[in-house]
Amino acid sequence: MQVFERAGLLTSFIENQKKQNHSVGFVPTMGALHRGHLSLVKHALRENDLVVVSIFVNPTQFNNAADLQKYPRVPEVDLKLLREAQTDVVFLPPVKEIYPNGTQSEEIDLNGLDRHMEGQFRPGHFQGVVTVVKRFFNIVKPTRAYFGEKDYQQLQIIRHMTQLHKLNVEIVSHPVERGPGGLALSSRNELMSLQQKEEAGFIHKALQWAQKNYRDFNPRQLQEALKARFEKSNLKLEYALVSDPESLEPLEEWSQKKGARLFIAAYMGEVRLIDNVPLF
Ligand code: PAF
Repeated sequence: MQVFERAGLLTSFIENQKKQNHSVGFVPTMGALHRGHLSLVKHALRENDLVVVSIFVNPTQFNNAADLQKYPRVPEVDLKLLREAQTDVVFLPPVKEIYPNGTQSEEIDLNGLDRHMEGQFRPGHFQGVVTVVKRFFNIVKPTRAYFGEKDYQQLQIIRHMTQLHKLNVEIVSHPVERGPGGLALSSRNELMSLQQKEEAGFIHKALQWAQKNYRDFNPRQLQEALKARFEKSNLKLEYALVSDPESLEPLEEWSQKKGARLFIAAYMGEVRLIDNVPLF
């Protein structure tokens, strides 16, 4: 496994690989790797000749300085896991390498995809995400890039940015990976106690309940019913929203043509968790 810290050296290495007609799979991460990341790596390894994983805690996507500071950083553990997973290349750049002119996001038109949910509650977050992903795509020049559906809104926004800037990268999605009790895997889970993790499994139970019962409600009523269920739990619900899976606009009524996806964000203590499922 080769580890690069410098963008220029990595780009030269990749260009050389591409001259040999090797396809390049890319898995961008912020480290603190778990089984969810490793299944993205496995997915990429199956479909490409070479897999690059980046580890970079991107400052511009944190709208809260304390959150950035407490984000788990364990590069040595991550490198060991990636070596065991047979990753070919790791990109571990210092902040200056990605943001030589200061840690500021670019202004990228997100076509309103950031109007609701994470975009509403974490202002500036998605501008930071697309800024860093665009820079990574320019450095790594991947054939395919892999993103988990747990961050479904991020996935749609990255698809849009890739098309808008005509970046020649295929965006591949991967289903949500879950732990015992159905809790969606996330690096933030490590900030919860064992009991909190168990109780946070309630989010998945609520999503499953909605998948089974949504026909008894319209989207707004379903959201209200979910709110009432969360009031009886130890989680503090931030939003439960039924949206069009493509435009991410909230749905007023069910539409077989559009389909529907349910998104939830909730706090367990100080830890903010997100999850989502297709309803149909
Ligand atoms: O999903 C993440 O871990 C991050 O948002 C990403 C895509 C690596 C960009 O920093």
